[in-house]
Amino acid sequence: MRTTLEDLQARLLAGPIPAAEVMAFALYDPAHGYYRRASGPWGFEGKDYYTALDLGPLLGQALAVRLEAAWERLGRPPDFIALEPGAGRGWLGRDLLAAITGDFAQALKYVHRDDNPAARSAAETALAPFLAEGRARFVSEAEPLEPFDGCVFSNELFDALPAQPWKWDGARWNREVLTASGPEWHPFDHAESAAWFAARSDGLEPGDGSVWCEALPAVAGALAGALRRGLFLAIDYGDHAANLLAKGADLRRYKGHTVDGKWAEELGACDLTADVDFTRLQAVLEGRGLAEVSHHHLSRWIRTHAPLADWEAAWQDLDTPTRLKRMENLLQLTMPGMMGERFRVLEGWKD
Ligand SMILES: C[S@@+](CC[C@H](N)C(=O)[O-])C[C@H]1O[C@@H](n2cnc3c(N)ncnc32)[C@H](O)[C@@H]1O
Repeated sequence: MRTTLEDLQARLLAGPIPAAEVMAFALYDPAHGYYRRASGPWGFEGKDYYTALDLGPLLGQALAVRLEAAWERLGRPPDFIALEPGAGRGWLGRDLLAAITGDFAQALKYVHRDDNPAARSAAETALAPFLAEGRARFVSEAEPLEPFDGCVFSNELFDALPAQPWKWDGARWNREVLTASGPEWHPFDHAESAAWFAARSDGLEPGDGSVWCEALPAVAGALAGALRRGLFLAIDYGDHAANLLAKGADLRRYKGHTVDGKWAEELGACDLTADVDFTRLQAVLEGRGLAEVSHHHLSRWIRTHAPLADWEAAWQDLDTPTRLKRMENLLQLTMPGMMGERFRVLEGWKD
């Protein structure tokens, strides 16, 4: 039977619900889920949060350079699939497609994969010229992934997967649950996550905690499994497992551009996210045959791959407001207090 808001309340009367199940309901319930609504949550005024794509085209332009290098490494194949799961409005794909030229532009076919209906309709507009030219297409999340050569890339996909917060109290693990009177921490045994956390800490302290994403192996594994040869690239909030444990990670709700700690309120009407455990994502991908897997701050990735000198030269021809916007876009992607250190980029390679 389909879950509804009434069902959730009835279930709460019967007993606590694990936070991960509440997050799954709040984001993906067909009737109430935040990512199943007809109108989008992204942007500035009157919206809940913005992503790197709202700030300008530089992330897409840097990605274009990185993917062209991957295409070269593969021997310049005539078909290079760029699959974007969790593609949202398709803006990263649009900025990527707009930035590439020559033989690489002929080879790259962009594939948008995200069942979010608001995102899909925004992406139809953003990608219109590329859809018309046959350089972009949509696939649904239910469609089996055929093996391909090219790249899987994502921006803020893994932080949107339902995740369960855990906290160590000095004697045992507690998981966060929603009760009829609000969130609480209840003792619970889950051998797999407990073993993972214990192995990533050199001595747990009371209050240490992290998040466990049950679906991570299935989602990341299926994407990595479909990539026959090429680059896997994931941009997301998160950190090393040990740093998350020491910090005591929890779910985050975004409402009106504010993180307020009230993750269990207004379910379905606000965004919920969780830090990505990049150590675990790396382990999952290595288990699916990816090599050279590593992850770094976004600022380092931008400084490594973005053609900064070319950008600087090209910006001289722009009008002043546009030039200032580009500079702001670059600062947002590289400043430690902004996205530069809050985001990480994971890369892996498959031959
Ligand atoms: C935080 S949004 C990011 C959207 C976009 N990448 C951006 O940066 O603006 C997360 C998106 O991931 C999508 N999503 C969640 N799980 C997914 C999955 N297994 N496959 C594809 N998309 C998924 C959601 O529908 C949502 O649109």
